[in-house]
Amino acid sequence: MTTETPTLDTPPDVSDDRPDTLAMPKPQLTCYALEKSYRKADHEVPVLRGVDLEVREGEFLSIVGQSGSGKSTLLHLMGLLDAPDVGEIRLGDQRIDDLPERTLDELRNHVFGFVFQFYHLLPELSLLENVLSPLMIRLSLLGYWRKRKELREQAREMIAKVGLDHRLSHKPRELSGGEMQRAAIARALVSKPRILLADEPTGNLDGETGREIMDLLADLNDREKLTIVMVTHDAALAREADRTLELVKGRLVGQAAAA
Ligand SMILES: Nc1ncnc2c1ncn2[C@@H]1O[C@H](COP(=O)(O)OP(=O)(O)OP(=O)(O)O)[C@@H](O)[C@H]1O
Ligand SMILES: [Mg+2]
Repeated sequence: MTTETPTLDTPPDVSDDRPDTLAMPKPQLTCYALEKSYRKADHEVPVLRGVDLEVREGEFLSIVGQSGSGKSTLLHLMGLLDAPDVGEIRLGDQRIDDLPERTLDELRNHVFGFVFQFYHLLPELSLLENVLSPLMIRLSLLGYWRKRKELREQAREMIAKVGLDHRLSHKPRELSGGEMQRAAIARALVSKPRILLADEPTGNLDGETGREIMDLLADLNDREKLTIVMVTHDAALAREADRTLELVKGRLVGQAAAA
């Protein structure tokens, strides 16, 4: 047994007396003291005022809060779509918010999947092409051409997983709201991300269709152990996650375990 003083690199040996700690999944994504303000006219409007958050591997976390409380801002920072003014974001042990733009792009493409309230599908592309688009963007034209069979298969598999294999050639305008959100989820997952960040994924859907999307997310979390961070206005759906946090005045409060 080592006698050296524990540091971040050499965590303490907890094997004898802290079984609960061993059972806890590892922190996968950690936010430290995040601050973010926006400039409006000639003054700064603080939105996040010191957000600390640990997302554990395989957990389903929901974030609620009033409109304008900064939920989307926080999700964007977590997924490296925007940078904090102050604070750090870590993936495992590595700080990721201050990396060069090229590396940030790689992480955005490989680690994070995004789902938005209004789907953001490309209207001229079929469902299959929409789901393929992240893979096409990631590779050069030649690279895509060489691997096209395998990539199309990968996209088809993901589309089947969200229950839309009978809609492959449909354009977004030929899909219902729930189907468009399923398509957006398939597109977010086709690159096999480790963390899905969903911003009001049911916000534009009726109750029943929203329920179906929630069931799909819960299923992906359960079966594929996909880590999910979901922002929602729907308190009942939020409670179905493993944990719910609320953004109030720029800080996260109110941790609640799932029922
Ligand atoms: N790019 C921007 N420039 C200036 N202000 C912004 C920008 N993005 C967000 N804000 C402001 O920051 C605050 C938080 O916005 P954010 O979109 O994060 O809130 P939200 O909690 O997601 O709200 P909603 O529930 O309505 O989606 C709002 O006051 C908004 O006006
Ligand atoms: Mg928002």
